[in-house]
Amino acid sequence: MNPISYFYDPLINSIKKSMKVTVVGAGNVGATSADAIAYRRIASEVVLVDIKENYAEGKALDMMQTATTLGFNTRISGSTNDYSKTKDSDVVVITSGVPRKPGMTREELIGVNAGIVKTVTNNILEHSPNAIIVIVSNPMDTMTYLALKESGLPKNRVIGMGGALDSSRFKCYLSLALNKPANDIHGMVIGGHGDTTMIPLTRLATYNGLPVSNFVSNDKLDEVAAATMVGGKTLTGMLGTSAWYAPGASVAYLVDSILNDQKRMIPCSVLLEGEYGLNDICVGVPCIIGKNGVEEIVNVNLNDKEKELMAKSAEAVRNMNAALETISA
Ligand code: LAC
Repeated sequence: MNPISYFYDPLINSIKKSMKVTVVGAGNVGATSADAIAYRRIASEVVLVDIKENYAEGKALDMMQTATTLGFNTRISGSTNDYSKTKDSDVVVITSGVPRKPGMTREELIGVNAGIVKTVTNNILEHSPNAIIVIVSNPMDTMTYLALKESGLPKNRVIGMGGALDSSRFKCYLSLALNKPANDIHGMVIGGHGDTTMIPLTRLATYNGLPVSNFVSNDKLDEVAAATMVGGKTLTGMLGTSAWYAPGASVAYLVDSILNDQKRMIPCSVLLEGEYGLNDICVGVPCIIGKNGVEEIVNVNLNDKEKELMAKSAEAVRNMNAALETISA
């Protein structure tokens, strides 16, 4: 961040500090993230990077042409693998890699995506040594662990974005099951960002502070949890590739909490050092997210069943992390 640079947005009628976000990968998820960050005026500058010639430039220009109709002043630019344009980014979102196709799990992407995430992390830090890194590439928990180890950054600056997305899907399905407005529903998904590893905390979900179990049957809640866990898979089956609107919006939500120091509680994949009885693993837990990235890990008093699910989830993520060594060996 350039500390003396400010931008003025007449629509929100305020002067904000200049904030720069880089999004690596201009595919569906990366481009939608950039778009949401720009039109919600979360940052003053967004740089999109892609390896495909002119692709990021084209998407950036297309988005810039919405500035007057959507009413934002964020400057969006694109770059074909030229990381010098990402210089001094405050936050860098890594979405690059291959997305899953119908029938594939997120875990099957590890071989290709590990190499990409490693290279991108190094390129990013060369030009933005102080950036906070948000990982979206799959398998997300393992890619977060890899980026953390590769970069040597403190754990507060490497954040896996999966819990925000899974929680938004959980709240969506809850609001449909209860037939209540989505924004009156609160709930979180913790654990790994995988079809069998995520843990929707149904017991703690509320409709304006009242337990959701006051409004629907336990069977219905089990259905909601099951639909949440395969939320991404269902869409991959319908769309032929990974979803993008909810992932992009979740990235923007997380980046907003960082850049505007919102201190929202968001489930994120972060390095655990004893929390939840786990060590040396990145997995989804509720975090307070502010200008320093992960500012606090929130402990939830899990019941025995939830503890067991968390242990199983961590074990699956750990096995995936072990595969990294085989790949790099
Ligand atoms: C999903 C991908 C982005 O869950 O992991 O849609």
